[in-house]
Amino acid sequence: MARRRQIYEGKAKILFEGPEPGTLVQYFKDDATAGNGAKSDVIAGKGILNNRISEHIMLCLQEIGIPTHFIRRLNMREQLVKVVEIIPLEVVVRNRVAGSMAKRFDLPEGQRLPRPIVEFYYKNDPLGDPLVSEDHIVAFGWACPQDIEDMVGMAMRINDCLCGLFMGIGIQLVDFKLEFGRRWEGEDMRIILADEISPDNCRLWDRHTQEKLDKDRFRRDMGHVKEAYQEVARRMGILSENSANAVNPAGDNESLDTVQHLFVHNDGVSK
Ligand code: TMP
Repeated sequence: MARRRQIYEGKAKILFEGPEPGTLVQYFKDDATAGNGAKSDVIAGKGILNNRISEHIMLCLQEIGIPTHFIRRLNMREQLVKVVEIIPLEVVVRNRVAGSMAKRFDLPEGQRLPRPIVEFYYKNDPLGDPLVSEDHIVAFGWACPQDIEDMVGMAMRINDCLCGLFMGIGIQLVDFKLEFGRRWEGEDMRIILADEISPDNCRLWDRHTQEKLDKDRFRRDMGHVKEAYQEVARRMGILSENSANAVNPAGDNESLDTVQHLFVHNDGVSK
């Protein structure tokens, strides 16, 4: 098979040239990093779980009319997506105080916010992704006021949809991060949701026990990272009940790619 051209490698994903013009293949790695790369490890099976979880969420969002880059899942680790010009912003939506917000304002984690808050961070690793205002965004030309309005509007709709989706499976959506991109169709440009939505970029707490089911388990050395991601997938109904403890039984990365039977709704997707 011809080697595919790699377009970009990030911390958790690789982008390859897609089979048709205007498409890319998004490959989910098992690598986990935190603290701007200060901490890194491999969590065998994470990429497979995030691929499925993100697919499930993107399809739900498409159902409510959110435009996304997601076209279809190709196999256990890859999905076909539309090419976009990534806007260099991380759009964070917060329903409760946690993480950097708890630190910044010295507030207890878990405190409910009176209304969801949208924040923007400039995507720049050497600068440590600083928090920026809408004025910074416009002044530095990262996006125009209309783009910002579109992103905030979509972020709030996505939050409503995901809060309901997660509440239905006993999970509180504490906060999450989105990335958007520009997609040109002829003369027309529209902003669409890009990247992924998974426990790597959400805070997900069990509604009753407040147990963390997300990447904070890795960031804070709490252990059982893969098991937490599996639990999210299981509750979403995309990991079959009897497989909950079976992903990566041998600790062997490659063996995971042969365990399609662990997932339900495989819908004939080719590997
Ligand atoms: P924070 O509390 O560290 O600012 O994170 C807010 C949310 O954004 C949390 O769900 C984790 C997510 N996030 C990312 O996905 N990538 C990042 O680089 C950072 C800093 C946060």
